[in-house]
Amino acid sequence: MERFILTEDGSHSLYSPQYNQQYHSLQGALTESEHIYIQLGLFPILSQASSPVHVFEMGFGTGLNAFLAWKLADRLQKPVDYTSVEAFPVPVEEAVSLNYETLTGQTGFAQLHECGWSAEHQLSENFTFRKENVYLQNFRSDQLFDVIFYDAFDPRAQPELWVEEIFSQIAAQTCTGGVLVTYSSKGIVKRALRAAGFNVERHKGPGRKTHVLKAIKY
Ligand SMILES: C[S@@+](CC[C@H](N)C(=O)[O-])C[C@H]1O[C@@H](n2cnc3c(N)ncnc32)[C@H](O)[C@@H]1O
Repeated sequence: MERFILTEDGSHSLYSPQYNQQYHSLQGALTESEHIYIQLGLFPILSQASSPVHVFEMGFGTGLNAFLAWKLADRLQKPVDYTSVEAFPVPVEEAVSLNYETLTGQTGFAQLHECGWSAEHQLSENFTFRKENVYLQNFRSDQLFDVIFYDAFDPRAQPELWVEEIFSQIAAQTCTGGVLVTYSSKGIVKRALRAAGFNVERHKGPGRKTHVLKAIKY
């Protein structure tokens, strides 16, 4: 498969030969990201927030989720503090060829890729960004997060990342009442999330996808 993929809504995604997986749904990268991570995950919390919202992303990848979160923070004028982990970074030259600025009419996408790892970057008045070049399994932080974007590759490709042990590690970094959103609604994912201390809700997915998950830490 080609490295660059044009998904059904006209937005780009990438193909990972290492995992034989694409980074987003073929039905639409932008549609998926906006539906699950922004509208289901971040928006309900950020729109009600009276203090900065701390977001943690598993799998920075193309940077699309981070870009949309940044632009939502700017639009609502509410502060977001965003931390992402990525074990296998996308080369900057590839990332800057993605068509997310053109499709959203927003700017700044390259900054997410060009800024340094393991440092805090104030990318706008309401968006602070930090990315760590580490395996999720090795990530630890003093921060408790309000919103988790759980965007690993599919459970068939990365079964080790969709288990109770990993979700317990995430739960320990999530505030009570904090939410985790993810595109996979498989039974093993729901069971692992419940065992790790989340109440799991099924929601309508983007496009033809029937279900996605929102899990609330109790
Ligand atoms: C589905 S893609 C993420 C898509 C991304 N959120 C975006 O908006 O483009 C999964 C990402 O997780 C990364 N990844 C895979 N295993 C990882 C691990 N153990 N720790 C951290 N990142 C990992 C991959 O390199 C890939 O970038």
